[in-house]
Amino acid sequence: MTSENIKTDNLNIIAIANQKGGEGKTTTSINLAHGLSLEGYRTLLIDMDPQGNSSGIFTEVDSLQKSAADLFSQKLGPKKIILSTKYEKLDILPSKISLAEVELGTLNVEAPYILRDAIGEIKDQYDFIVIDCPPSLSIFTVNALVAANYVVIPLQAEKFSIDGIKGLQNTIESIKRRINPSLTILGALITQLKSNTILTKTILPVINDYFPVFESSISTGVSVGESHLSRQSLLDYNPSVKQSKEYFSFVKEVIHGVQK
Ligand SMILES: Nc1ncnc2c1ncn2[C@@H]1O[C@H](COP(=O)(O)OP(=O)(O)OP(=O)(O)O)[C@@H](O)[C@H]1O
Ligand SMILES: [Mg+2]
Repeated sequence: MTSENIKTDNLNIIAIANQKGGEGKTTTSINLAHGLSLEGYRTLLIDMDPQGNSSGIFTEVDSLQKSAADLFSQKLGPKKIILSTKYEKLDILPSKISLAEVELGTLNVEAPYILRDAIGEIKDQYDFIVIDCPPSLSIFTVNALVAANYVVIPLQAEKFSIDGIKGLQNTIESIKRRINPSLTILGALITQLKSNTILTKTILPVINDYFPVFESSISTGVSVGESHLSRQSLLDYNPSVKQSKEYFSFVKEVIHGVQK
């Protein structure tokens, strides 16, 4: 843990995406963003999910005056929406349910580029931006993939989780080909792992056909749910629990991965 700013040469924008629900996107977004800030990087967490789950850790979602929806409907600048959090060097651009109503109204040619343009206005203020995506390949996930340099795919080590990754891979490839050639898949992060044997014997070889897989993986543990209930990152709630150590090691891998 350091206290001074570590300035990176480039702004690294990481979308945490998987169109399947409950795979660990929000948990990963919260703890990656907090972990990066603990490492001294100026970090912004953007919540692109109308469910507002990661926003709920850092803000009172019900009383939010401004949110990501205003980027889309009011064309409000991001500086007016971003809030600081209780964690040093970590800011949030929150969302709430009103983001879901935006989608229908924004089917115009600018729609995929709104987040990218917004980030352009704040790019000098951060070293890392982490984007928590919704469980769909909606316009919000597309916005995140258009704006990002990197994608991290949280994935449970289960058959149904693997069935959906072809669709995600196609979406990423198509955005890369048409709009954002620099988009790079940093890797898949195995979450909610029950046994390492299952991972190494059966799941890893299958996922490896699609994506690189992080060496770190996240095991299942009750502290994760408890940290959400206490509205803290897991790294803050209990830094010595196994899953915290696993997330710390994942954060290190991400930092290493973007420096390559
Ligand atoms: N390592 C873990 N151990 C135990 N429970 C976990 C772990 N990771 C996530 N969970 C739990 O699984 C559920 C889904 O996690 P999370 O909200 O991070 O996934 P998500 O992909 O963001 O879901 P959604 O698609 O709905 O946005 C939550 O209840 C969370 O507490
Ligand atoms: Mg989520």
